[in-house]
Amino acid sequence: MFESKSGVFLIAGLFFFVLSFVVMGLLPWMMYINEPEQTLEDLVADGVIHEFAELAEKFPDQFAQHFPDGVTRNSFAEALQRGHDIYVAEACWHCHSQQIRPVSGEDLRWGPVSHAREYQNVLQRPVLFGTRRVGPDLIREGARHSNDWHVAHFHTPVNVVPTSVMPRYPWFYDDDDYPNRDGMSIITYVQWLGSWLAEYPYYRGEGPSGDTLGHVEKVTEAAVTP
Ligand code: HEC
Repeated sequence: MFESKSGVFLIAGLFFFVLSFVVMGLLPWMMYINEPEQTLEDLVADGVIHEFAELAEKFPDQFAQHFPDGVTRNSFAEALQRGHDIYVAEACWHCHSQQIRPVSGEDLRWGPVSHAREYQNVLQRPVLFGTRRVGPDLIREGARHSNDWHVAHFHTPVNVVPTSVMPRYPWFYDDDDYPNRDGMSIITYVQWLGSWLAEYPYYRGEGPSGDTLGHVEKVTEAAVTP
């Protein structure tokens, strides 16, 4: 058998199977086994993203109704978790990836290449790499558009991007077409994506340390209402 062509292919096949298992499965597992998984509390420890606070400013009555505690780390964490759950439930991941690979100039289109550590947190359970890209990658989506843009876009995408094939999400809005709890949560979630990068968002050509980074400034402790 080992002297036949098929024998050589069988042994080569088994060898490459074991090699890929070791390189892509075993080694990463051994490298990251001691890396702690970030909890929701860890993720909001630095403060609240500006866009969440802005939702409270723009829609004070609705915000107070959906997040009675106001702009706090707890309500931010709640919105993130809910936004994540909606992202999973609505199968946004079916059209959007959350992983920028170091190939095909993906970093020029969407921002810095993704690192393994960015996925070691509860909001990447299940991991939301996605399987295909009908729409753009979203791991650097935060602050790419304003809250207003998202409010209009989730309601009727073609009003904002005429060629869009993204579905409408009218159930993210109340009877008066203000974003409801789900709408505010999904907007908070997409605005949060990528906000953990210190040099963020330099894909906009604004430079890693430019003054124009103000819009991703974390709200300070004092500004977070109890
Ligand atoms: C049928 C595929 C499809 C589904 C499902 C889908 N999208 Fe999209 N999405 C697109 C396409 C295509 C675009 C690009 C055109 C546009 O901006 O509307 C897009 C654009 C976006 C953008 C703007 C990206 C940018 O930077 O311009 C965001 C944010 C977004 N989608 C979030 C979501 C979320 C959240 C969900 C789930 C609630 C979702 N999408 C579901 C196809 C989809």
